[in-house]
Amino acid sequence: MYDNWEELEESIKNCDKCKLNKGRTNIVFGVGNKNADVMFIGEGPGADEDAEGIPFVGKAGKLMDQAFKGLNINRENVYIANIVKCRPPQNRVPEKDEAMACLNYLRNQVILVNPKIIVLLGSTALKNILGEEYSITKERGKIIEKKDIKYLPTWHPAALLRDENKKLDFWKDLKEVKKMAEEMNLRI
Ligand code: URA
Repeated sequence: MYDNWEELEESIKNCDKCKLNKGRTNIVFGVGNKNADVMFIGEGPGADEDAEGIPFVGKAGKLMDQAFKGLNINRENVYIANIVKCRPPQNRVPEKDEAMACLNYLRNQVILVNPKIIVLLGSTALKNILGEEYSITKERGKIIEKKDIKYLPTWHPAALLRDENKKLDFWKDLKEVKKMAEEMNLRI
């Protein structure tokens, strides 16, 4: 574990713990407020993120930004990171060994940020953070509290591109996050 951001980021830049390092253009470390109260965790970088080195800047990210805008959630107030920091080929789901190799980096980020609320974007984030026994279709929209952190699993924004009906759920879930943050006097 690193107690400062620079060393953590540097160690990821040099990481070759899994095969994903071979295909990356950039690592996608994370972005936002390093003291955020609310953190968002996605799956892994796509082509746009790999090119820019920033999470959620592609199509799915634009959709998330629209929801943020509509609900008055400020991207600069929250912190956004992914389960894996390097792009999986063809945007496939990260394999177990890849997620496992990368998970300590994310744990380190969570420790440094110290968020009160974590939004889990999709099944990969949910299963790797809370456990394989969790199902996104069952747990979506439910608050799960563990070790003083409130987790809210919701659809991955890319799923909204495939299924319009999920947009309403996503919106509802982020509205709940916003409400909860405000009630707890948190920055969002
Ligand atoms: N999908 C993710 O899970 N993360 C990103 O950063 C972009 C798309």
